[in-house]
Amino acid sequence: MDNSNLSLPVIVAISGASGTIYGIRLLQFLLENNYKIELIISKSASKVAQAETSLNLSLEPEILKKQVLSYLKNPANKKEELLNIWSHDDITASISSGSYRTSVMVIIPASMGTIGAIASGVSDNLITRAADVCLKERRKLILVPREMPFSTIHLENLTKLSIAGAIVAPACPGFYHSPKNLNDVVDFVVGKVLDLIGIDHSLFKRWREDINLPVLK
Ligand SMILES: Cc1cc2nc3c(=O)[nH]c(=O)nc-3n(C[C@H](O)[C@H](O)[C@H](O)COP(=O)(O)O)c2cc1C
Repeated sequence: MDNSNLSLPVIVAISGASGTIYGIRLLQFLLENNYKIELIISKSASKVAQAETSLNLSLEPEILKKQVLSYLKNPANKKEELLNIWSHDDITASISSGSYRTSVMVIIPASMGTIGAIASGVSDNLITRAADVCLKERRKLILVPREMPFSTIHLENLTKLSIAGAIVAPACPGFYHSPKNLNDVVDFVVGKVLDLIGIDHSLFKRWREDINLPVLK
């Protein structure tokens, strides 16, 4: 049963797997569409962002807020109240308690380290604790792992989390929507995550949505 109430905040966590851009694109979409967000970025994510993008993601919440808002297409001042940023090691944050209500948590991208910690119940930072809370409160937890290949340990951890109720949605873009550039590839993965959250979007063309698609034999 889907009991997520999207008027409650969405927790977005960006960990240190490759593909920071997926997390940033999801944030951008949610803010531009007026969803409330609780954001956490791991220390490693900040380093990976530096390696992969032109983005500088500070570990200092107030600075990070300015950086994220300046990246949005819409005027930042209208979105400020929607975005709550927590330090990765702030275990006193509202989202580390089940009594604080949230709708859904997405870890995008999710590193194998973070996946392993959640699978073994190690809640030693705010991302792993908030995920632990989602599992115990039976709230929707969407994991977007990025690794290749998977070891047996990765697969066992992902299976364990799936059995515990998490949705494992790996960053595996499809190509049947005929992407023209990298943005289209990113939008496919983020669009699939939005489908799982339950948010309407038009980030990609769905299969057979295009009436000019050739008939396959
Ligand atoms: C450039 C770069 C790319 C990385 N890509 C991945 C990856 O795709 N998947 C992964 O699980 N770890 C990846 N890592 C390693 C993680 O960042 C590392 O295991 C880190 O401890 C994860 O910490 P976190 O889960 O707290 O973010 C990468 C590291 C770097 C520097």
